[in-house]
Amino acid sequence: MGRSLWLILAFSLSLLAGCAQQPPKDDSIYQDLGQRAGIQRIVEGMLLRVAKDDRIYKYFAKVDIVRVRDKLVEKFCADAGGPCTYTGDSLAEAHKGMHLSRSDFNALVENLIDSMNEQHIPVTTQNRFIARLAPQRGEVIEK
Ligand code: HEM
Repeated sequence: MGRSLWLILAFSLSLLAGCAQQPPKDDSIYQDLGQRAGIQRIVEGMLLRVAKDDRIYKYFAKVDIVRVRDKLVEKFCADAGGPCTYTGDSLAEAHKGMHLSRSDFNALVENLIDSMNEQHIPVTTQNRFIARLAPQRGEVIEK
C-alpha cells in the first residue's frame, strides 16, 4: 500500500475512534413522551388548560399563541433529549417584564402535569421531564 493510502486509513480510524468515545445521547424521555408528535399534543393540552386557568391566563391573553406553541414544542423536545434545536428567544428575554412568581410557575407545571395525564404519560416519565424544567425556574421568575 502506498504511503498516502496508509495516511487515509489512519485518519479514518482516528475519526472512528473519536465517534466511539462520544456517548450516545440519552433520548429516553423524548421517546417516552411520544416523540415530537406526543410533545406537541402535551403542549397543546397544556395551553388549552392555561387559557381556562384564572391564575395565569392573563399572561397569555395577547401573545402569538401559534408561535408560543411552536417554540415550546421545540424547547420541550430539546430538553427531553430529542433531535430538536430551540430557535426561540432566551427564557430570560421571553419572560421579561412579566414579574412571574413561584406560584405562577407552579400553576403552569400543574397544567403541564394534567396534560401529560390526559396523554397517559407514566408518572416516572413525568417526573423525569419536570426535573429537566425545574432548574430553569430562575430564568423565568422574578427573583
Ligand atoms: C420552565 C418553565 C418555562 C419554560 C421552559 C418556558 C418556555 C417558553 C418559551 C420557549 C417561550 C417562547 C419564547 C419565544 O417566543 O421565543 C415562552 C413564552 C412565554 N411564556 Fe414561558 N416558559 C416557562 C414558564 C412560564 C410561566 C410560569 C409563565 C406564566 C405563568 C410563562 C408565560 C409565557 C408567556 C406569556 C410567553 C409568551 C411571551 C410573548 O410572546 O410575548 N412561561 N415560554
